[in-house]
Amino acid sequence: MSTTVPDSGTYPFPPGAYGGCPMAYRERRETAPVSTITLPSGDEVLLATRFDDIREVHTSQHFSRNLRYPGAPRMLAAADFGEDPNSLTNMDPPEHARLRRIVQGAFTPRAAEKWRPQITEIAEGLLDTMLDAGPPADLRSAFAFPLPVEVICRLLGVPAQDSPLFRKWSDLLLSLTAADTDERMRAGLDFSAYVDGLIADHRRRPRADLIDDLIAARDEDAERLSGDELANMVRGLIIAGHETTANVISRGTLALLRHPGRLAALRAAPERVADTVEEILRVEIPGHGALLRVAKQEVRLPSGAVVGKGQGILAPFVAANQDPRRFPEPETFDPDRADNRHVSFGIGPHYCLGANLARVELQVAVAAVARRLPGLELAVPESELTWAAGSRVCGLEALPVTW
Ligand code: HEM
Repeated sequence: MSTTVPDSGTYPFPPGAYGGCPMAYRERRETAPVSTITLPSGDEVLLATRFDDIREVHTSQHFSRNLRYPGAPRMLAAADFGEDPNSLTNMDPPEHARLRRIVQGAFTPRAAEKWRPQITEIAEGLLDTMLDAGPPADLRSAFAFPLPVEVICRLLGVPAQDSPLFRKWSDLLLSLTAADTDERMRAGLDFSAYVDGLIADHRRRPRADLIDDLIAARDEDAERLSGDELANMVRGLIIAGHETTANVISRGTLALLRHPGRLAALRAAPERVADTVEEILRVEIPGHGALLRVAKQEVRLPSGAVVGKGQGILAPFVAANQDPRRFPEPETFDPDRADNRHVSFGIGPHYCLGANLARVELQVAVAAVARRLPGLELAVPESELTWAAGSRVCGLEALPVTW
């Protein structure tokens, strides 16, 4: 019997406490694990809320990221990056593997580890500047954002001083309801022109960075990587490379401030930073959605719900991480969990390309904040913290701290 029930919920749902998993996901998980929701486009799709169903949607070959055919379900009424055929995130195997193979060497665990000394140097430098200026400070703008921005800029070969530009474009492109169509379109065009200029500049002056490697792959064989795919890859890496990591650093710091015992334990045993980061990742994933998928044929999910051929489905990782069937007492922040195999980096073929790099950045950031700021506390009451609304990414607007 199908467990799918009609539901009038409109996506995106209001976040839970501290910008966390929406209450609607928790409730539906028990009453209607797969239910109908309305996207900002007005299209109705399914919402999966149980770990096993979410894993199935992201790993089964019967679900596709191709949402470009007439009548396909869409997140937004207007065109957005979800439909760009040149994007890694919108491709299905085997095209997807062709493109992914070109970049994955830059993101292996070994490659990420090689960045650790540079990431440490960047983190220490940012904290030096923040400490020199004295309290209070906005930890988000002084540390959490510039750290991953600087890392992805060095890795790709992008001038870090341009970050205000591409941060503005990313915010607009990631918005669901916060920006209007015109703003999003303009941001897309400006960002494309910027990246075209960047690639032209790298052609004139190669610097042995990832953009140069991608240009070489393109020049070797356009069937392996087309010009549009190259530009799209650079844009995608700039956005994906900083936005989520920056938000997890801010949210993770707040989580530690809200759990002073855990912060004290980390300070006493800094070698436990990796476990702390995994729990931050499980609980503080800043996206309440996932990229939409569509069923290529009828599929019965583990909960028994049936997804019809052509039906869209949203299977959010944040909901999977909060499923008590998989994580006992999911709302408890517990870095000592025996089994913390969360899905914050996704699962299946689209598993986050930058996961190894993000882990190193988060470990360095969290360890540095704990060590360098022993008297760290919020500079405002918790009730005054504000959260960005209407975006695919749910982050703090600022994290005012003192020490
Ligand atoms: C804490 C930080 C991060 C989190 C939580 C995160 C999360 C995710 C998730 C959940 C997906 C899969 C989306 C889906 O299947 O619907 C994904 C894909 C991706 N991520 Fe990340 N990410 C992070 C950092 C990064 C970084 C630092 C980079 C690059 C330097 C990056 C690059 C990508 C790319 C390129 C994809 C698309 C992969 C594909 O479609 O094959 N991410 N990320």
